[in-house]
Amino acid sequence: MAAAREHWGSRFGFIMAAAGSAVGLGNIWKFPYETGANGGGAFLLLYLLFIVIFGASLILAEMVLGRASGRNPVGAFRLLGGGAWPGVGYLGVFTGFVILSFYIVIAGWTVAYMGFMLDGSLMSSTPEEIGAQFGGFISGGVTPVVLAGLFMAATVAVVLGGIGKGIERASKLLMPVLFLLLLVLIARAVSLPGAGEGIRFFLVPDWSKVTGATVTSAIGQAFFSLSLGMGALITYGSYLPKSTPMPGSAAIIVGLDTMVAVLAGFMILPAVFAYSLDPAAGPGLTFVTLPVVFSQMPAGTVFGFVFFALLFVAALTSAVSLLEVVVTYLVDETPLTRRQAALGAGLVCFGLGVPSSLSQGAVDIQVFGMDFLSAAAALTDLLLPIGGLLTALFVGWKLGPKALALVTDEGRQAFPLAHVWLFILRFVAPIGIAYVLISGLI
Ligand code: TRP
Repeated sequence: MAAAREHWGSRFGFIMAAAGSAVGLGNIWKFPYETGANGGGAFLLLYLLFIVIFGASLILAEMVLGRASGRNPVGAFRLLGGGAWPGVGYLGVFTGFVILSFYIVIAGWTVAYMGFMLDGSLMSSTPEEIGAQFGGFISGGVTPVVLAGLFMAATVAVVLGGIGKGIERASKLLMPVLFLLLLVLIARAVSLPGAGEGIRFFLVPDWSKVTGATVTSAIGQAFFSLSLGMGALITYGSYLPKSTPMPGSAAIIVGLDTMVAVLAGFMILPAVFAYSLDPAAGPGLTFVTLPVVFSQMPAGTVFGFVFFALLFVAALTSAVSLLEVVVTYLVDETPLTRRQAALGAGLVCFGLGVPSSLSQGAVDIQVFGMDFLSAAAALTDLLLPIGGLLTALFVGWKLGPKALALVTDEGRQAFPLAHVWLFILRFVAPIGIAYVLISGLI
């Protein structure tokens, strides 16, 4: 072994970093609009179901691969499996690139909206004007591209600091801030007159709205939200000391991520209904509907700014984990230093983000009949479950009983549910994911 691998400073630090990865735009921006577009409570139930049956087990599987190998996703599959298995790691690194390239675009929008909230430019507008301003902004060309670049630079800056001084320190500060901001906003949203209808929409399933596409979106959302299926948790797990027990940490990470998604639903949907807006507005829900809500709300400027700051913080700790997968891979497997890897990967990823940003109205860039950004997002929804499926097969069958030894550190750490976990990885997850993927494609 070369120089000793850096480790997380504490279990708390690891959990904050991993929860920081999981909690992001996926929870606060994507989850509420997907729920709004897919029938409310029914989507919520499917999402929760996927998290409970596959999500938690797969998170743990990835952490095991990371801790046991002390390597990046490619190196982990090579060391523990050999053969063609490192391909799963390569797929993950590639997926990370694709996600990050469009993630920075949306994250850049949050920066702009923090500004729009502060300068009050949306506060006296009608809903139509607010919608037009959103369309005008995202199709404006240069500004959104520059903001995506700035966001990428902030992400690179955190990753340059390394695991302890960069990612762990930032997460330990930012995650508690995020929870605090979230609580402030929920208190506001659920006390609005007329909020009850939104709460009912969110909690009571309307099965007539559920189609094959709904189910596929729900599984894609579960993977995306948990940062699952591309080796992010292999990467973070590779910086864990052998002595850290993992099942409890995995449960906490899943719990926090799910809680934030559900809380985001409680924050956004009641407000949408309180002002008679359309819950099925799609990706614009956050950027159009909420400013309408803030403009009609007492102290809306403050709440609006807090909201977009919340979204920014959540996005930053997630983007950091996406970049870290690529950087850990490059540092482990090539002669590049962390500095070179972070700057180079950041630059390339930004390059791939430019067409995503421009495809939002400035330039007509289509792939598979979708604009570039939507195509990148759709590809992600497919690649993550495939990555998760292969990871389950690898840990369940290729490692098999050896996985039980690895998860318990050769029996030194208790894990009463170990056999249930292995059963899920062997049968439930592969069959379930394959079924959902296939039924979504045909
Ligand atoms: N989970 C993050 C979110 O909800 C996005 C994310 C970060 C991610 N790292 C990931 C998604 C790795 C998939 C894989 O916004």
